[in-house]
Amino acid sequence: MIPSSAHHVQGISFCLQPSPKEMMKMDSLCFSAAWSEQDYREMQEQPTFSNWLLQVPTAAQVGMLSFQSVPPELQILRLAVLPDWRKQGLAQFMLEQLEIVAKSANLESLWLEVNSANKAATALYYKQGYQETGIRKNYFINPLGDALLLKKILKYDDKQAAQ
Ligand SMILES: CC(C)(COP(=O)(O)OP(=O)(O)OC[C@H]1O[C@@H](n2cnc3c(N)ncnc32)[C@H](O)[C@@H]1OP(=O)(O)O)[C@@H](O)C(=O)NCCC(=O)NCCS
Repeated sequence: MIPSSAHHVQGISFCLQPSPKEMMKMDSLCFSAAWSEQDYREMQEQPTFSNWLLQVPTAAQVGMLSFQSVPPELQILRLAVLPDWRKQGLAQFMLEQLEIVAKSANLESLWLEVNSANKAATALYYKQGYQETGIRKNYFINPLGDALLLKKILKYDDKQAAQ
């Protein structure tokens, strides 16, 4: 693991098999419309879904990422950082790590839907090279907003492509 964007935060690691309860707890601290423990349990019963919790030694769990991988694509379902830990590069770090995993599985692209009113998240994804591929009007209710469909095509250099 190469903690590039979050190099100043010491000892970052991921819990790759968190319990549904741990996911629900983190989700409820980060989102106004939280997913339930049952939602996470059902997700984890399906092999295409993955949940990661981001950990630091001083504060245990500080962020989360949920995604579904259906080759050749990977969909990001949830990405969040606890309020006190935001603006330190941790979400960017999670996206960078996700790209490494996606590339090791030879996937073509990552995509997601995000509320156009969510300025922090849209800025994050644009900064990471995601591009708008569509829009669903009034898709989100809480808070109200259009859904932007964002996608990033993964680039492989010659060496990676040959592997
Ligand atoms: C969106 C979210 C995940 C960003 O997490 P974060 O760890 O604070 O983000 P980072 O520190 O990695 O920021 C990386 C880049 O994202 C953008 N960004 C992050 N927060 C921002 C904000 N509040 N306003 C504007 N841009 C922001 C910036 O471009 C930033 O780069 P910079 O620091 O060089 O300006 C976090 O605000 C969050 O958990 N929000 C609630 C949950 C959510 O809305 N998730 C996304 C939908 S699934």
